[in-house]
Amino acid sequence: MDDPPQNIYNPDFVEKLFSQMSGTYDRMNTITSFGFSVHWRRQCAAALHLQPAMKVVDLMTGMGESWPFVLNKIGREGELVALDFCPEMIHFAEQQKERFPGFSVSILQENALQSSIPDQYADAVISTFGLKTFSPEQLDQLAAEVWRILKPGGTFAMVEVSKPGFWALRYPYLFYLKKVIPKLGKLFLGNPESYRMLGVYTELFENSRQAQKTFERAGFEVQYLRFFAGCATGIYGKKHARFPNALSKL
Ligand SMILES: C[S@@+](CC[C@H](N)C(=O)[O-])C[C@H]1O[C@@H](n2cnc3c(N)ncnc32)[C@H](O)[C@@H]1O
Repeated sequence: MDDPPQNIYNPDFVEKLFSQMSGTYDRMNTITSFGFSVHWRRQCAAALHLQPAMKVVDLMTGMGESWPFVLNKIGREGELVALDFCPEMIHFAEQQKERFPGFSVSILQENALQSSIPDQYADAVISTFGLKTFSPEQLDQLAAEVWRILKPGGTFAMVEVSKPGFWALRYPYLFYLKKVIPKLGKLFLGNPESYRMLGVYTELFENSRQAQKTFERAGFEVQYLRFFAGCATGIYGKKHARFPNALSKL
């Protein structure tokens, strides 16, 4: 693997990367995943068993690609808070919002690691393809933040493109991520570098096992999710009410 730039987990670097890709991200994402990204978002949302009138937070919302799968469950009585720190992605999210008149969607341009979302606001938190650009320390912060904004009993589900465990799939898939996608990126963007970085992040991310451990350490009960032979993996978890120490010893 070529040496990645040193600061790849720096929020400014990540934000700039997505601002460069914002005009093409949506199409590229669907084409390069052969349409699977849409399916994986749907499965991730389905894991949450959302109900009408629930309050849901979509972290790293991008252009609101996961909203249809959330809004069709929570309905017009529900509330969706969508957060992303990249102004260009938010610009497209604002356009996406117009496709859902009558639904309650609030868009926040903020860092997911320190948001203004109130404590215990959400029944559920979703995040699709937003994990790979976090370092292990930032994942710790993310887990603490998800714990903070979820109500007791609340659930979260996250999915990320991953390196398949099965070698016969692993090498062609990595070749595709690292060599073919940048070429497609060049076709669309005239600059393959941003899309090459997605392959770099995926190779470093590997799969959602680290995220699973991190969220378990934060206090969640976590289930590991595998999609399409591990080409995407994710985590689903629940926040159990914490009892004061004295009570838990009874
Ligand atoms: C790969 S895109 C995923 C977008 C969308 N959720 C989807 O399903 O395609 C990752 C998004 O996460 C955002 N992001 C990354 N780190 C973030 C952070 N710390 N706070 C807020 N947004 C962040 C980026 O700006 C980008 O829009």
